[in-house]
This record gives sequence, C-alpha cells and structure tokens, in this order.
Amino acid sequence: MPSATHNLLLLLLFIHRLISISTVGLSLPSQTLSAAVDFGATTHSLPLAVLRPSSPSDIASLIRSARLSSPPLPISARGHGHSINGQAGARGGIVVAMSGGGRRRMSPPVNSREFGKTYVDVWGGELWIDVLNWTLANGGLAPRSWTDYLYLSVGGTLSNAGISGQAFHYGPQISNVFELDVVTGKGELVTCSQDENSELFHAVLGGLGQFGIITRARIALEPAPERVRWIRVLYSNFSSFTRDQEQLISLHGQQRFDYIEGFVIVDEGLINNWRSSFFSPSNPVKISSIGGGGRVLYCLELTKNYHHTSADSIDEEVEGLLRELDFIPASVFTTDLPYVDFLDRVHKSELKLRAKGLWEVPHPWLNLFVPASRIEDFDRGVFRGILGNNTSGPILIYPMNQHRWDERSSVVLPEEEIFYLVGFLRSAVPGSDDRTKSLEYLSDQNRQILKFCESAGIDAKQYLPSHRGRSEWRRHFGPDKWETFQRRKAEFDPSCILGTGQGIFHPSSCPFTSSLLPS
Ligand SMILES: Cc1cc2nc3c(=O)[nH]c(=O)nc-3n(C[C@H](O)[C@H](O)[C@H](O)COP(=O)(O)OP(=O)(O)OC[C@H]3O[C@@H](n4cnc5c(N)ncnc54)[C@H](O)[C@@H]3O)c2cc1C
Ligand SMILES: *[C@@H]1O[C@H](CO)[C@@H](O)[C@H](O)[C@H]1NC(C)=O
Ligand SMILES: *[C@@H]1O[C@H](CO)[C@@H](O)[C@H](O)[C@H]1NC(C)=O
Ligand SMILES: *[C@@H]1O[C@H](CO)[C@@H](O)[C@H](O)[C@H]1NC(C)=O
Ligand SMILES: *[C@@H]1O[C@H](CO)[C@@H](O)[C@H](O)[C@H]1NC(C)=O
Repeated sequence: MPSATHNLLLLLLFIHRLISISTVGLSLPSQTLSAAVDFGATTHSLPLAVLRPSSPSDIASLIRSARLSSPPLPISARGHGHSINGQAGARGGIVVAMSGGGRRRMSPPVNSREFGKTYVDVWGGELWIDVLNWTLANGGLAPRSWTDYLYLSVGGTLSNAGISGQAFHYGPQISNVFELDVVTGKGELVTCSQDENSELFHAVLGGLGQFGIITRARIALEPAPERVRWIRVLYSNFSSFTRDQEQLISLHGQQRFDYIEGFVIVDEGLINNWRSSFFSPSNPVKISSIGGGGRVLYCLELTKNYHHTSADSIDEEVEGLLRELDFIPASVFTTDLPYVDFLDRVHKSELKLRAKGLWEVPHPWLNLFVPASRIEDFDRGVFRGILGNNTSGPILIYPMNQHRWDERSSVVLPEEEIFYLVGFLRSAVPGSDDRTKSLEYLSDQNRQILKFCESAGIDAKQYLPSHRGRSEWRRHFGPDKWETFQRRKAEFDPSCILGTGQGIFHPSSCPFTSSLLPS
C-alpha cells in the first residue's frame, strides 16, 4: 500500500503551504513523541505531525487538506492530554495542539443586561486555571461549574461533560456554555448555540471530539465567592450516606451547600490521600477509632461559599444544614480557605506527588455513572466486595440529577433522574513489591467491576468512556442515541477524520464514504 507515503507527501506539501501563509509551528520529533502519550500512560499512538494553530483558519485549512488525502488523514484536537486511554491521539495522523504556547486569547468578561447573562469568550485550548485567573482579575467573576482539577482544557472537558460537586445545582460544564465556534470535519468554521446551528452545538457538547474542533467557548460566569467553609463528615452506614447525599442535592435557594461530593474509604492510607491532606496533621484520623463497626467508611464532602460581609452567619448556616444529617457523631472535620485555593486543591496534591515521582505513573482510571436505584447493590458488590482492602487512589461517589443536563447533548447517562458518579482514580506504582499496586491488578479489578455491573443488570454508563469497536460503542449509546450520534457524524464529519483516538470511527472504515459516493 503506497498510502502512508502518499499521505506523508501530501502532508509535507500541506505544511509547506501553511508555512508560507502563516506562522504555524512545524512539529519536532519531541513534540510528536509527547503527543503520542497521555495522563493514563498506558497507550501510545504516534502522530505524523503536530500542528500548533495560530487561528481557527489554520485548523480549517488543515482539515480541508486532510480530507483530500486517500484515505483521509486522521486529525485529533489535543487539549492538555489528560485523557486516560489515548482519546486525544491521532495515530498516523495529525494532532492539533490546542493548549500551551503561552497564548492568551480571552476577551474581557461581558455583563449583558440585554440577555441577563454574564460570560467570557475563551480560546478552546485555554486551561480552566487560566480562565479563572483571568475572570477574577477582570471584575471578580468566575465560572459556576467546575472539574475537581483545573489544569484541563475548556475544549477537552466540554467534549466530555465537566463535572464536580457543583453539577447538582448548575449542571455540568456543558450546561453552562452559551455559544461555541467550531471547525467541523468539513473544514467549515461555524458559530453555534441553542438558537443558531443548534444541532452542531448539541452534538459537540459531550461529543468526544467527533464533530468538530472547538476554537471558542462562551462560558457563564457569576460573582466569585471570597471564602469557602469545607466540611467532611463520615458514615459507616451506606444507606444513610446516600440518603443524606440525595436529600442535600434536592435543596434549593440559600439553604443548601454549594458543593457536594463524597468518597469511599477502605484503607487508612486513603484517608491521607493525594487529593488533600485535609485530616492531617492537625486532624489525624484512624478508621478503627471512628467506630461504626464497618470495614468501609464513606466520607461526605461539602462546602458553603461566603463573602467576608456574611462571615458572621456562616457558622450558624452550616450548623443548621449539618443538623439534618445522619453521620457518625463527632466525625466532623472543618477547614476554611479562600475560594481559589479550594478550586485549585488538587494541584497542591499534584505538586506533592510529582516531588515523589508518583504523578507520571500509569492511571487505569474508571469512571461510571450508576443509577441511584442500584447504588446499594453496587456498594455490596464493589466497595464491600471486589475492591478488597487496598484502593491505590481516591474513589469518588456523588449523586447528580438528570434535569440539570440537556438530553440533546451527546453525553450518555443512565435512564434515571438521579445517578451517581463513581470514580476509581487509581495510580499504579511500577516496580512495587505490592502486587495490588500493579497496573495488571488494577486493570483486572476494573474489568471485574464492569463484569459485575453487567451480570447484576446494573445499567452503568462509562464517563470519559473507553470502548473497543463499533458494536461496544453502539451498546454504550443505546439504539436511539447511537442513531443520532451517527447521523450527526455523517453530517459534520462525513470522512470520519476527527477524534480517531476514541476508537469509534476511522477514515479507513468510514461508513459514510464509499467509492460510489464522492465525499
Ligand atoms: C487529575 C485529573 C482530574 C480530573 N478531574 C475531573 C473532574 O473532576 N471532572 C471531570 O469531568 N473530568 C475530570 N478529569 C477528566 C478530564 O475532564 C478529561 O480527561 C478531559 O478530557 C481532559 O481535558 P484535556 O484538555 O486534557 O483533554 P484531552 O485529553 O486533550 O482531550 C480529550 C478529548 O477531547 C477532545 N478535544 C480536546 N480539545 C478539544 C477541542 N478544542 N475541540 C474538540 N475536541 C477537543 C480530544 O480530541 C479528546 O477526544 C480529570 C482528569 C485528570 C487527569
Ligand atoms: C494569574 O495571572 C497573573 C498575572 O495576571 C500571574 O502573575 C499569575 O501567576 C497567574 N496565576 C496563575 C495561577 O496562573
Ligand atoms: C442503616 O441505616 C438504616 C436507616 O437509615 C437502617 O434501616 C439500617 O438498619 C442501618 N444499617 C446498619 C447496618 O446499621
Ligand atoms: C482486610 O483487612 C481486614 C482487617 O484489617 C481483614 O480482616 C480482612 O481479611 C482483609 N481482607 C482482605 C481481602 O484482605
Ligand atoms: C494491601 O497492601 C498491603 C501493604 O502494601 C499489603 O501488605 C497487602 O498484602 C495488600 N492487600 C492485599 C489484599 O493484597
């Protein structure tokens, strides 16, 4: 097959042309090598080249040229490369590096009286930490819905959902976007929103990079709170834990918490886990000393935001809310910090882990949306069963409500109003003597967890999904969503060149192109 050589030739011709029309960076071998790997550190997909676009039209020309090749060249946007299973890769194709390079393309926040909306327009490759820094500095504003970690790109999280403890109230990040600029798989630059080109807008949100490359996002803002009261309480009774969580996400108005998450504790190592040194050293905790009788504990994590001007009433408000809950008495741990420090909490742990050489290790992460009606069964089978005593990383669990999500987006959820995110965010330690820290052990446990859900008939859906082959993807989406997904793919990326790292479509087996139909 001469096609690889042919593609390379075409690419070189293309790059030559691009360089003559703009100042686009040509990739060096080190850049293609680093674009081959991601945070998961278990996959490797080497691209032919990396494009550092200086404008949306660079991306549009690239896509139009890539479609002319035969077969067409794969192209993937890469934000911060924090995927786990090579989702941002483009084996044998071109990676469009959206983040990095120190470019800031953000306009001043806008408070539109006409529409009653406050928002900021940002470049699709911007990292959320930089968006926050910018909006705080320009009017004391901040986005409303977050991820736990801020060194992720706007385009990357919007291609999935973007969830954290605020999602129960504001919805995921994809529910907090007013407008997008997208370069489609046809190489067209399109502005879209609920009202304009709405099919593309909904397709791209949660769209796994399949329909276009987000170059601009208009993100909803609110006045930033100043401080955060951050509370953790413990449970040994799972049904009390979930009943309280579900009760808390149903509260509205001022009388509610601003952030609701939780995690599972099956060993004492976890209690001083990498996400925070919350309990220690000033608050050392031993599971055995907590009581409650169970081997497994559940930690409910809450925050209440406030301004200095309302500092007088915060204690009372928090106490009032906690009084309704059924946690283990005397297991209340509280801290108080600036809002930005709370949002950026995981970065502190990253720095600690980096110092120990424990950040750039394999991350066989598994995230599931589990319907609330089956979460007790999940607890029995997984937290009290399959997991055993060693977790090797945080296990998050918190509920969300479907009515805060837009069913027209590409995201796949269980068919129930309330569902839980269960995130197994574990790290392997290469070369460790403890076999429970090996990649093989953790990956095998992930397989057991998925198999358990299947055999118990629990309709869990993967978040940040990783599936092999089109039939598994079809099952992930379910018949209706799959049909919509395919129809949108045929419309916006008919050559199947975008997002090949997801393993859903590929130009060499694209169902929408055939020799009979000119593409
Ligand atoms: C430490 C850590 C903490 C995390 N915490 C959370 C969390 O709390 N909540 C949460 O929801 N997620 C969380 N994630 C997951 C994270 O949201 C996803 O991995 C996300 O994809 C990462 O963004 P990225 O910019 O690195 O994306 P990448 O890995 O670069 O890309 C992910 C996908 O999006 C596509 N893509 C990237 N940019 C664009 C664009 N501009 N236009 C179109 N498609 C694009 C890529 O092609 C790829 O398919 C976390 C990940 C890590 C590593
Ligand atoms: C925020 O921006 C300021 C300059 O505006 C810069 O000095 C600071 O380092 C930035 N902080 C982060 C976390 O990027
Ligand atoms: C857990 O709490 C529920 C009530 O919320 C109670 O019915 C159940 O018996 C408790 N389980 C245990 C093991 O204590
Ligand atoms: C887990 O630890 C407890 C005591 O700490 C022990 O009784 C139990 O057997 C252990 N389970 C496994 C699967 O190792
Ligand atoms: C859990 O980890 C400990 C310490 O690393 C180890 O001794 C133990 O064998 C592990 N447990 C299991 C069930 O393998």
